[in-house]
Amino acid sequence: MIVETPLATQRLLLDTLTPQTASGSYASWFSDPYVTRFIEGGREKPSSEELEQYISGMNESPYDLLLGIFMQDTRTHIGNIKIGSIDRFHKRGDIGLLIGERSQWGKGYGSEAIGAVTEYAEKPLGLRRVFAGCHATNAGSVAAFVKAGFEIEGRMREHARDGDTFVDGIIVGKRLGER
Ligand SMILES: CC(C)(COP(=O)(O)OP(=O)(O)OC[C@H]1O[C@@H](n2cnc3c(N)ncnc32)[C@H](O)[C@@H]1OP(=O)(O)O)[C@@H](O)C(=O)NCCC(=O)NCCS
Repeated sequence: MIVETPLATQRLLLDTLTPQTASGSYASWFSDPYVTRFIEGGREKPSSEELEQYISGMNESPYDLLLGIFMQDTRTHIGNIKIGSIDRFHKRGDIGLLIGERSQWGKGYGSEAIGAVTEYAEKPLGLRRVFAGCHATNAGSVAAFVKAGFEIEGRMREHARDGDTFVDGIIVGKRLGER
């Protein structure tokens, strides 16, 4: 799925990625173990070709919306956010995000982007629920969702691996107005 018009927040633009984006800073994010630590399937560095295929596949999928997170003033690409597994029967979708430029962590961009895609999930997508799974050890991720109005809904015991230990998964979710 693509957006015709980028979603604008106070400081960011969330826009559909072109396959050419794969040759920019995007690929380099996967070389930073701090960035990939909590990413599902993020342990193997993808090639530019694999990223291109991923972007094209997401853009063509009616069940997924992948958007780049760009600084509004400089158009720098700092991360990506997606609503995945969009289910129009159950009216739900799951959110995943990655601020790939570590220098940009902790500035509120994550929660700002989550807020914008959550609004888009409500309207025009017409979903009634969005949710995300976070590693219990990923305090920044849980905090970013809570700051965007999500509630902690549940815990999956030893759901994911973080280094040498298995850690709980925290489910955060938000019920939307369109019900
Ligand atoms: C997790 C991530 C998306 C958070 O984005 P961010 O832009 O750094 O988060 P925000 O600045 O919006 O932070 C929201 C809140 O979390 C807090 N926070 C951020 N990092 C934190 C940390 N490591 N520990 C505790 N709190 C943290 C912030 O202080 C902020 O709260 P405040 O405004 O009340 O101070 C980002 O760090 C990231 O992409 N990490 C790598 C990939 C990843 O983990 N993705 C999430 C998978 S579910």
